[in-house]
Formats: sequence, C-alpha cells, structure tokens
Amino acid sequence: PRLSADFKLVLLGESSVGKSSILQRVQNGTFDDTKASTVGAAFVSKKVSKDNGDKMVNLQIWDTAGQERFHNLTPLYYRNSNMAFIVFDMTSIDSFRKAEYWIRDLETYKNDNNSSLKLVLVGNKCDLVKSEGCAFEDEIRQFLNVNPEISKYFKVSAKENVGLAELFEYVVDSVDDE
Ligand code: GTP
Ligand code: MG
Repeated sequence: PRLSADFKLVLLGESSVGKSSILQRVQNGTFDDTKASTVGAAFVSKKVSKDNGDKMVNLQIWDTAGQERFHNLTPLYYRNSNMAFIVFDMTSIDSFRKAEYWIRDLETYKNDNNSSLKLVLVGNKCDLVKSEGCAFEDEIRQFLNVNPEISKYFKVSAKENVGLAELFEYVVDSVDDE
C-alpha cells in the first residue's frame, strides 16, 4: 500500500453486553457462549486495507472492562481515540441506560477537550430480539433524535455474525475524515 494510517477505537458499555465477543467474532470468526469478563482492559490490533489496497489502516482497539469496579479507568482509554463504540445489550434496558450515561460522559469530554471523537451506538445480541428491534426501540429512537452527536446506530449479533461487516466498514470509511 502507498499509504497507511492509525485509527484508535475504544469499546465501552456495561459488563456482559458483548464487547469482547464482538471483537472475537471480527478477529477470529468465532464465538464463545461462556466468555470470561474482561479485567482492566484488553488491546487488539487489526490491519485492514482500503481504497482497493492503496491504503492500509491499522486499527488499534481498546476493549474496556464493563464491571463497575473498573469504571474509573475507562476515561484513560477514550482519550486520544478517534472513535468509540458504546455497546448495549438489546435485551437489557439497564444496559441501554448505562450506554446513555457513557454517551453523556463522552459528550462532556468532547466539549471540554475540543475532541472530534466519533460516537457510534451499537445494540448487540439482536439474535435474541424480533426483527423490528427490541422492546425499548422507541426510547432508543428518541435518544438518537436528541443526541445528534451519535453518528450512527448499528444492530448487531456477535453470536450470529449479523451487522458486524457493516459496522467495521463504517469504521474504515471514517478513517479519511480524520
Ligand atoms: P465485560 O468484559 O465484563 O465488560 O463484558 P463484555 O461486554 O466483554 O461481554 P462478553 O463479550 O464477555 O459477553 C458476555 C456474554 O454475552 C457471554 O456469555 C457471551 O457469550 C454473550 N454474548 C455476547 N454476544 C452475544 C450475542 O450477540 N448474542 C447472544 N445471544 N449472546 C451474546
Ligand atoms: Mg469483555
């Protein structure tokens, strides 16, 4: 490739929403029904080519731990990031409310730091809900309407490999915007 770029991505969201499972699916093409909760944070890097191989993108991904005891660490990971996935579980309204909390925190951070961090809302485990969406789809729509800072909303399943190609295509397409 003639060009290469680094792109930093951070995954945020409550414990057990499936952040690590999304990365495992994208990285290895596999899925675990019994996945260990992340401790601290995990780093994953992934190379993808774009523009017909003209450009190589080095995705540097921080997979944060959703457990409450690690929450004071997460701001360390979204500093210097280009994009954040705020992940929730489509069967859990509590995990969606936690996502709202993270998004507000990220918006405050962006305003205070003049940051161009791009926010993407990701609803995982869509294999467990009806095709129309989850039970609180109206609340999600409303939240998106009043938060134009969220650039996109994706419904995915790490288990069934739904929506992840589109999600990562969106990531790679965003690289040139930086
Ligand atoms: P923390 O590391 O604690 O923050 O959790 P996490 O967000 O990384 O969640 P993890 O990937 O460990 O997944 C939690 C559980 O949800 C595991 O038992 C997974 O098998 C399950 N899971 C993850 N993605 C999906 C999915 O798309 N569909 C279904 N049905 N289950 C999923
Ligand atoms: Mg994890």
